[in-house]
Amino acid sequence: MPPSPVPTVALAHGARMPRLGLGTWPLDDEGVQPVLERAVGLGYRLIDTAHNYGNERGVGAGLRATGLPREELFVTTKFNKNSHSVRGVRRAAEQSVRRMGIDYLDLLLIHWPNPGRDRYVDAWRGLIELLKAGAVRAIGVSNFKPAHLDRLLAETGVMPDVNQIQLDPRLARVSARAYHAEHDIVTEAWSPLGAGTGLLDEPVITEIAARHGRTPAQVVLRWHLDLGLVVVPKSASPARLAENIDVFDFTLSAAEVAEISALDRGAAGEADALDSDVFGH
Ligand SMILES: NC(=O)c1ccc[n+]([C@@H]2O[C@H](COP(=O)([O-])OP(=O)(O)OC[C@H]3O[C@@H](n4cnc5c(N)ncnc54)[C@H](OP(=O)(O)O)[C@@H]3O)[C@@H](O)[C@H]2O)c1
Repeated sequence: MPPSPVPTVALAHGARMPRLGLGTWPLDDEGVQPVLERAVGLGYRLIDTAHNYGNERGVGAGLRATGLPREELFVTTKFNKNSHSVRGVRRAAEQSVRRMGIDYLDLLLIHWPNPGRDRYVDAWRGLIELLKAGAVRAIGVSNFKPAHLDRLLAETGVMPDVNQIQLDPRLARVSARAYHAEHDIVTEAWSPLGAGTGLLDEPVITEIAARHGRTPAQVVLRWHLDLGLVVVPKSASPARLAENIDVFDFTLSAAEVAEISALDRGAAGEADALDSDVFGH
């Protein structure tokens, strides 16, 4: 298999994470396996799944079918609110590795903070224990706001390697990104292409794409990469899987990055997005 074109980023606790990976929601066990195999053949090494997606068995089958040595792959999964305790996190990790048929996770994330339950710091303590025990190579969170991260730091002294949040040019999360940069947390964007909401039809993006002889999705992914983010676009289409990883041989100018960043809707965009103080599973 040819080497992956995807560069990696160093995480705070020492692991290295590919800067682009495969999103697997909403693929099911059956659907994800051929997509994952195809993606790995194209050079994807980071696979993003979650207990909640109900496809970890299919992800595991796909990983095995690639024949790649385990250490060449980077597997992320996430657990739900009913695992928000030290024991619950240990059990969630054991169950995820069993479902996938692998013997360790690269990155395990608290899927949503669910602050109404007030247990995410316990979940975080569980992740710290797993990291110390070597059961996971990196630990992180998803959908955490700076206030939630402040509490992790105040109560445990340990910050996540990664925070995976919804982020695209119209929802650019400027203050979250600044907070993450200040605390050495890698920002990973979910729904990086805007998840079919018309982002790819924005004239600014289609014009820049035409200028580079690229597709709108490639330009959006390049914008994320040029900002230093990690991205997990999902596609079930062989052609789009190939298109989405073919972004490491061009860059945008600073002016183009700024033009795309000007699509940010700021507070209005954040108000329309899922609020992790309210929503979670
Ligand atoms: N942590 C969280 O709470 C959370 C929440 C949501 C998602 N996620 C993760 O983030 C991943 C990505 O998010 P997402 O799937 O919501 O959104 P996305 O990756 O922004 O967009 C996916 C959609 O765009 C289409 N697409 C993909 N590549 C394209 C291209 N080159 N040109 C045009 N359309 C393209 C896909 O259709 P086709 O498949 O037909 O190509 C699909 O409909 C998920 O799969 C999941 O792993 C995490």
